[in-house]
Amino acid sequence: MASFKDLAFTSAEFARLAQISKNQVDEFEKEGVLTTIRKKVGNVDRKMVPLESAQSFFSKLREMNVPSVAAATETPNEAGDPSLAAGSDSSEVAMNASTGRHGDQKAPIGMFLPKSVQHKVQMFYNVKGGTGKSTLTAQFIMQAALMGYRVLGIDLDGQGHLSLNLDVLNAHELPTIYDVLINDLPMKDSIINVAPGLDLVPANLGLCTIEIPLNQKPRREYRLGEAIRSVYDQYDLIVADTNPAASILNSSMLVAADQVNVVCATNPLSFHGMSLVMATIEEMEREFRKELAIKIIPNMYDNREVISQEVLGELKSQFGDYCARSVISRSVDLNEATKQRTSVWGVNSRGIGAQDIGALANELIAQGQAELGSASLGNA
Ligand SMILES: Nc1ncnc2c1ncn2[C@@H]1O[C@H](COP(=O)(O)OP(=O)(O)OP(=O)(O)O)[C@@H](O)[C@H]1O
Ligand SMILES: [Mg+2]
Repeated sequence: MASFKDLAFTSAEFARLAQISKNQVDEFEKEGVLTTIRKKVGNVDRKMVPLESAQSFFSKLREMNVPSVAAATETPNEAGDPSLAAGSDSSEVAMNASTGRHGDQKAPIGMFLPKSVQHKVQMFYNVKGGTGKSTLTAQFIMQAALMGYRVLGIDLDGQGHLSLNLDVLNAHELPTIYDVLINDLPMKDSIINVAPGLDLVPANLGLCTIEIPLNQKPRREYRLGEAIRSVYDQYDLIVADTNPAASILNSSMLVAADQVNVVCATNPLSFHGMSLVMATIEEMEREFRKELAIKIIPNMYDNREVISQEVLGELKSQFGDYCARSVISRSVDLNEATKQRTSVWGVNSRGIGAQDIGALANELIAQGQAELGSASLGNA
C-alpha cells in the first residue's frame, strides 16, 4: 500500500496514465524527457516512474503543448466560456492541437494539458451527505498534482475526510481553517505539504464549532476568500471539500470560488435534493452579485441499475448544460482508494475508477479546451 507521495508506476501503468503507448515510454526515457528508477516490486527489480518524474514529464508537456484556448482568447463570452467567445483564436488552436506544434516546438505527444486551469478556485459541494464529495475532491486534486499542477486542497469539513483521504493522520494536532478565520492565523501557516506539488489545509473535529464564532465576525462571508487570495499566486489550482450542510462556511466558499462542482449520487434522494442545492447557489449568486461556473457530477453510476439510468436521464434533462460530460461509475477501486488513502491510479490503473477520474480531471481543468485536446490524441 503506497500513499500518494510514494506512488510509482510501471511502464504499462504510466503509458495508460499519459495515454501513450509503452514504446513511447522507452522513447521518452531515451530522449531524457522522462526519468525512471529501478525499484524492487516483490522479488522483481522493475523499471518504475516515480511520482516526481511523472509530474516533471507532464509539466514539460504543458510547456511544449499548444497554448490554452483561455490564453489565446481575449474576451470571454457572457457565459464565461472563452472557447465560445466571438472572434476567438480557437480555429488556430485547433490546428495547432492537431499538428501538436507550438511555434517551432513539437509536442512529444498529442495529450492536451492547458498551461493554466480555467477556473482556478473550485469546490465540491452538496448539502446532502454521502454523495462522494470528499472522495472526488481527493482524487481530483491528486490527479491534478500528478499532472504537474501546483495544487492546494482545503478541507472545510470537521469530519476531516479530505485530510484522511490524503493520508493525513495527525489532523487533530494541526491548525485548520478555524484558526485562520476566527483566530487570525495567516493562511500560509495553516498549510501543510502532503506530497510533491500537493498542499493541504487540514480539518479536524474542532472545525465543527466554527459556525457561531464565524457568524459574529464582520464581513464573515468574505473572510475565506481573503485568506485564499493571500496564497492564490502560489498555486495553479485551489480546491475545497465542503461539509454536507447549508453552513456559513460553505457560503463563504461559494463566495470565494470560481466554480462549484455539485456531486450528485445517481439515486432518487440525491436527485431530489438537487433543487435545493441549485436554489442555494442561485440565491448566493444574487446576494453576492457573482456568477459561478457550475458542474453537476453524477457519481456512483451503475449502468446495470434502471434507477441509476433514470436518475442520470433526469439530471441531464432537468439541468442540461450544467451536467458534466464525465460520469463517475460506482467502482470498487474508488472505495479501495478511500480505504488505502491514496490515488485510484495506485490501486488499479486499468480500472474504470482511474479512467473516470482521469476524464473528470481533464474536464475540470481544461473545461471547453478539453474537446480540442482530445482531438489531438494520437496525432503526435
Ligand atoms: N464512485 C464511487 N464508487 C464507489 N464508492 C464510492 C464512490 N464515490 C464515493 N464512494 C464511497 O462512498 C463513501 C462516501 O463518500 P464520501 O465520504 O466521499 O461522501 P461525502 O459526500 O464526502 O460525504 P459527507 O457528506 O459525509 O462529507 C466512501 O466510502 C467512498 O469511498
Ligand atoms: Mg465528505
